[in-house]
Amino acid sequence: MRLKLDLRGLLTDLVRARCDFVVIGSSALAVQGWDVEPGDLDLFTLPDQVDSILTALEAEPETATWVTEGEARRLECEIERGSVDIYVSVSGGISYEDAVKESILVSLGTGPAEVRVGSLQHVRDMRAAVGRNSLPVEAVAPADKEGAPKVIAIDGPAGAGKSTVTRAVAEKIGFTYLDTGAMYRCVTLAVLRGRADTDDPQEIGHLARSAKISFEGERVLLDGEDVTIAIRLPEVTKAVPHISAFPEVRDAMVDRQRELFREGRFVVEGRDTGTVVAPHAPLKIYLTASAEERARRRAKETGESIGSVAAAIEERDALDSARALSALEIAEDAVVLDTTGRSIEEIVSEVAKLAHERGIA
Ligand code: DC
Repeated sequence: MRLKLDLRGLLTDLVRARCDFVVIGSSALAVQGWDVEPGDLDLFTLPDQVDSILTALEAEPETATWVTEGEARRLECEIERGSVDIYVSVSGGISYEDAVKESILVSLGTGPAEVRVGSLQHVRDMRAAVGRNSLPVEAVAPADKEGAPKVIAIDGPAGAGKSTVTRAVAEKIGFTYLDTGAMYRCVTLAVLRGRADTDDPQEIGHLARSAKISFEGERVLLDGEDVTIAIRLPEVTKAVPHISAFPEVRDAMVDRQRELFREGRFVVEGRDTGTVVAPHAPLKIYLTASAEERARRRAKETGESIGSVAAAIEERDALDSARALSALEIAEDAVVLDTTGRSIEEIVSEVAKLAHERGIA
């Protein structure tokens, strides 16, 4: 599929969808995995485009004011649904990071839709490459790019059945299984062993980039040592949410995972695979299950009481969902599968069928 980018249509759709935040520009699309060159869509800098943007926003030209801040120009306008700010050119005076966080917004009230960007490092990288202003006629959807990584993303909360399902799907369709939770657990174990200060994100980030994490069948190796059992110890489980919330750690893990995806075909279990690590994944599954079922499964695995497991799961869910970066959430285009009361075989067959239907496996 080749998709024609109709900017006016895009804006109209976004306005209709009552998005909370819209990052406008090619960097935003590129961050989401679209095949556009940075700068391609920064056409808001062209004065003759402003009118069509305003029309799409149903704003009267006289309600819009140009504001210059540093080298960035901001179009402030009032429309029926609220105020709209569009940054049209960002360089010099304001960092793109600030703009992405605060300024390239179309604020349209409290609608549920939101267009998100990936990691700030990625935005920085994209921005560093800006320099063209031509207008693309077509853009290729990420999953349709030749040689696009074949990734099936299986995300969801603890105890939803991710490990069992992901492993079985990988085996069934001949892809490699990747457990991203184990990667975060390895970094946490290394920190608990004193290889970095628990409260020093820079040091932990460095460790997350330099530690050698590898998989041999079902075994997990940290710098060559078999840590399969050690990374599942309760003290590691307890500390992971804290360690995995550091942006420095997430950036390192996301980079490492993307690096791996370049080399093969993966079925990946995680929390942010479909939303952040591989937003272009041609198949995203969000596995979930009722809280009781999840606690029951974990208790069976660990031998603890259902009550204590339930409390721990609840606490970890809350932390995973609340963190600022890569919070546990459902990708817009994910297929949500509730595994409560369903057999593993059933779920695995359903995922494998979807993979076949989409031409992935
Ligand atoms: O899936 P798990 O229980 O092994 O994950 C361990 C922890 O790592 C969990 O608290 C969430 C975190 N994690 C994460 O933040 N991002 C991922 N992609 C995978 C796991």
